[in-house]
Amino acid sequence: ALRASFATKAQKVDQNLQHHLQPQASFKVAVLGAAGGIGQPLALLIKMSPLVSDLHLYDVANVKGVAADLSHCNTPSQVHAFTGASELANSLKGVNVVVIPAGVPRKPGMTRDDLFNINAGIVRDLVAAVADNCPDAFIHIISNPVNSTVPIAAEVLKQKGVYDPKKLFGVTTLDVVRANTFVAQRKNLKLIDVDVPVIGGHAGITILPLLSKTKPSVSFTDEEIEELTVRIQNAGTEVVEAKAGAGSATLSMAYAAARFVESSLRALDGDGDVYECSYVQSDLTELPFFASRVKIGRKGVEALISSDLQGLTEYEQKALEALKPELKASIEKGISFAQKQT
Ligand code: NAD
Ligand code: LMR
Repeated sequence: ALRASFATKAQKVDQNLQHHLQPQASFKVAVLGAAGGIGQPLALLIKMSPLVSDLHLYDVANVKGVAADLSHCNTPSQVHAFTGASELANSLKGVNVVVIPAGVPRKPGMTRDDLFNINAGIVRDLVAAVADNCPDAFIHIISNPVNSTVPIAAEVLKQKGVYDPKKLFGVTTLDVVRANTFVAQRKNLKLIDVDVPVIGGHAGITILPLLSKTKPSVSFTDEEIEELTVRIQNAGTEVVEAKAGAGSATLSMAYAAARFVESSLRALDGDGDVYECSYVQSDLTELPFFASRVKIGRKGVEALISSDLQGLTEYEQKALEALKPELKASIEKGISFAQKQT
């Protein structure tokens, strides 16, 4: 009897999971760098999505095992493995959303820009393949330094004649996830309610949380603003140091990237109420790329939310001006790298 009741309970849990996972749409998602620290948990979270019919996992090695393992989960999507450059094109055919976490992570003492020499070429080559095989897909760039890899991707797409600025996204969702977590903890708020827009870029002082725009409306002391801003800006380094040479954020990043994928799929599916922060081509400031809240629709970015930049506090306004030179230099570095290749 005990055994029977256990079986029933286990089945119930499975059924509950399945209930949320009835296929609702049939989008194809590719993860490039799928065997890595981010790629594996991200693939698992995407495998949970009811909006996905096919999950394409691409990496230069070790992807077959990851795909075999994931394919045993009784959730709707089919998992397909693609290994090495000769299988890259096939991994991209018919795909709606391409997520790129391929590349090396930081070790203690490094900046994200120190990854440029290796990751710039990886992103350039992968985005060239995206241009050739699924030019209409949404492209989510995770590989660092995001402040430069997104401009590189834009240049590659331009060179291929398929650049649609509305469909190229630098993933900065982790900055928002962190800001929401830290603010909720500091102010004893219910996590689910908290939303902090984070603008600028994705490295050090270019990460600018707009605490004055926190929802629900909260007041902070000057000390709290300074402490929270610095913690959000250094949160990546906090993880790099805690991992002590074993890499950077992977699990929280996978969570954040899965949220951004799910938002993109909802937008593609016609949901008219999808807003996320992302580092995109922008005219909100004089910089050609800038992270802000954006409205995402079927065709990609539908609007940049300019109201967040109005009525900034003096602290935020100063921080915004202070981040511009660094962000500008990172953008120019990416563009000139991509232009030198041709
Ligand atoms: P990792 O080393 O664990 O995994 C990277 C994977 O990329 C590996 O499996 C590797 O084989 C693969 N790879 C390398 N070259 C490739 C290529 N040419 N094609 C396909 N795959 C290739 O690293 P990780 O911890 O997963 O981090 C990946 C990247 O994400 C790093 O650049 C890191 O800095 C960045 N990152 C960004 C954010 C963000 O917020 N945007 C957050 C965390 C990490
Ligand atoms: C992060 O913010 O965690 C990532 O950009 C990885 C890193 O190097 O900090």
